[in-house]
Amino acid sequence: MKASLFIFLSALASLNGLFAQQPAQPPTDDNSRNAFIRELLSRMTLEEKVGQMNQYNGFWDVTGPVPENGDAERKYEDLRNGRVGSMLNITNTADTRRLQEIVVNESRLGIPLLFGQDVIHGLKTTSPIPLAEAASWDLEAIRNSARLAAREAAASGIHWTFAPMVDISRDPRWGRVMEGAGEDPYLGSLVGAARVRGFQGDDLSDPLTIAACLKHFAGYGFAEGGRDYNTADFGLSTLYNVVLPPFKAGVEAGAATVMNSFNVLNGIPATADRFLQRDILKGAWGFDGFVVSDWGSIGELIPHGYAADRNEAAQQAILAGSDMDMESGMYLSELPSLVRSGKVPEALVDEAVLRILGLKYDLGLFEDPFRYSDAEREKQVLADPSRLETVRDMARKSIVLLKNEGNLLPLSKDGLSIGLIGPLAGDTDSPLGSWRLTSDPNSAVSVAQGLAAYTGNRVAYEQGVPLVEGETAFVFETKINTTDRSGIPTAVALARESDVVVLVLGEHGFQSGEGRSRTDLGLPGLQQELLEAVYAVNRNVVLVLMNGRPLTINWAAENVPAIVEAWHLGTESGNAIAEVLYGDYNPSGKLPMTFPKSVGQIPLYYSHLSTGRPEYPGDNLVFWSHYMDQDNGPLFAFGHGLSYSDFAYSDLRLSTPELSGTGSLEIRVRLENKSTVGGTEIAQLYVRDHFGSRARPVRELKGFQKVYLEGGASREITFTLTAEDLAYYTANNRWEAEDGQFSVFVGGSSQADLKADFSLKQ
Ligand code: BGC
Repeated sequence: MKASLFIFLSALASLNGLFAQQPAQPPTDDNSRNAFIRELLSRMTLEEKVGQMNQYNGFWDVTGPVPENGDAERKYEDLRNGRVGSMLNITNTADTRRLQEIVVNESRLGIPLLFGQDVIHGLKTTSPIPLAEAASWDLEAIRNSARLAAREAAASGIHWTFAPMVDISRDPRWGRVMEGAGEDPYLGSLVGAARVRGFQGDDLSDPLTIAACLKHFAGYGFAEGGRDYNTADFGLSTLYNVVLPPFKAGVEAGAATVMNSFNVLNGIPATADRFLQRDILKGAWGFDGFVVSDWGSIGELIPHGYAADRNEAAQQAILAGSDMDMESGMYLSELPSLVRSGKVPEALVDEAVLRILGLKYDLGLFEDPFRYSDAEREKQVLADPSRLETVRDMARKSIVLLKNEGNLLPLSKDGLSIGLIGPLAGDTDSPLGSWRLTSDPNSAVSVAQGLAAYTGNRVAYEQGVPLVEGETAFVFETKINTTDRSGIPTAVALARESDVVVLVLGEHGFQSGEGRSRTDLGLPGLQQELLEAVYAVNRNVVLVLMNGRPLTINWAAENVPAIVEAWHLGTESGNAIAEVLYGDYNPSGKLPMTFPKSVGQIPLYYSHLSTGRPEYPGDNLVFWSHYMDQDNGPLFAFGHGLSYSDFAYSDLRLSTPELSGTGSLEIRVRLENKSTVGGTEIAQLYVRDHFGSRARPVRELKGFQKVYLEGGASREITFTLTAEDLAYYTANNRWEAEDGQFSVFVGGSSQADLKADFSLKQ
């Protein structure tokens, strides 16, 4: 007998013993995955199948008594009756074990639960917010950061994270830009894939890896007006060339799941969009994992005006390809009758359930439903000393030096008196960012604590103005102080007597993230007033910004000599910032998102189309694409970021002026470190396609390299392009490269001016 047939038959034989009443057991051989899940499916009632498609939030006390008036009693009943396939927000081994026990021991088939959680930038040990991590352009560090998050999550009983968010966004009003990789689909694809690989590792059944979830499919980052949950409206070119590439890269990296999104796209709520989920994701891309709805988004089809009632909402969502219902309960209540009445083919339910069971199988849950709920391992992993170095490394690499006039930075380590001022300077909570659901409050190192490690200087601290009023929380609006100025005079007095002022200003951690859109992107509250008052008495100001999105800091950019973009850097925040301020780490980050000069310029992004009237015609004429009251340029461009070294590019040369369909083009450039300080530069390659069947962006990022050079050293670096790299979604509705004229630009930002031309002839 052929070996494979033998394995198959013995697996089936082992499954035959599993009938009724017994919990599901794994087959002995991995090759029988599909046979196992199909056989299990064949034993499930319709209600049990629908149960697998239902995900509940764990909003009740799983270890103690059932809260009064809660819905816990019903949820416990549903767990016992096989009406729940997955839960979210259960975040430790004791609770996951307890719930798993209920399902495995008490439900008819004992199919293990899948525990999901928003592990966005760390579980307990917090990495920088994803936008900050993207500023490192360091795919290995990003993968390591995701790997650490996965280790801590998996060791806490969690199987699955709702990350990475790969939504491209060009709108900093949208608070969720903190959760993505910024504005560019090329960088966003690489970062998204690195995160997927970091979370999932090589083997999902490893008890220290977790399944990833690409979100939000699709168009969520294009919410009109930057207002969260709002409608998106854009055409096929933006869909295929900008929005979809990071999802496709994530699917190719093996992402186990995808989450759909809250927004309507071109009139259809994404959760009910067949074109997106069935035609593109599961069809053209062959995605074989499952799609989870966003929180309650199946129910939201009703207020969207797309479904008349619960029944229709559930029907629309399953027909469109949404496999699991997060917290709306509509699959559970509606799907059985929809199938029985013939409005939904049972085959669609089967498909969804097989996808879900497939992931449970891959995670090893049928082999051992408790493999992630090991209290001893949890303790060890959460105390692993190397975790702090991983997040500190990520934090250092995420910092972007925006400005350093007169080389005010790095600071001397001896004999300085430093006035440390600002509401965020002593803050141990804000640096944890918005998505720190599971980390301990106030567990970040503040800038004050980070600077204290350097004992050669005298550092005195004044808050100046409070940033917020009252309590802050993930689910509530953050109230900004606009009245209490009482601390300004003492802060000014400190500034007057200090050699250097380090001002730490920006956004509270809960001013960006979900549900946190802003129309004013200046420094919130009274911070601008504080900044100007301090600057009036001491011009040696180093501004350290903490924020989750680009800000319109025009006054600071013009007046303050040194500006350090420190985002929300997580647990090791203050240590990483101190290393940069003192030059123990030479900053190397580059902006993954344009900083506009005013909200009125938004959306402002480097890879825009040219328009038919891009240039000022002269003679005071108005007939060109511009504003009367603001120029078109950014405050800080995409890709911008300085260093304590001084890098120069020269000798740009191409291996050929004409690239063929099968050939490759080498782009060589000399990079020199003209300073005496060793440092790392992120060299960037941009391409302009001069003509196409669709109008083409003025520049597109096509490559980058992180290069370390000792002071005085220089090196030739080489980029390679093929026709494939020039492909895009053309007017033929195909992903292809078109012959024509191109230019390359190489340098340290999207404004790089070294340029060379070539043509493509396939
Ligand atoms: C967010 C998702 C998140 C989910 C679960 C939703 O409100 O949009 O990104 O994963 O909640 O917490």
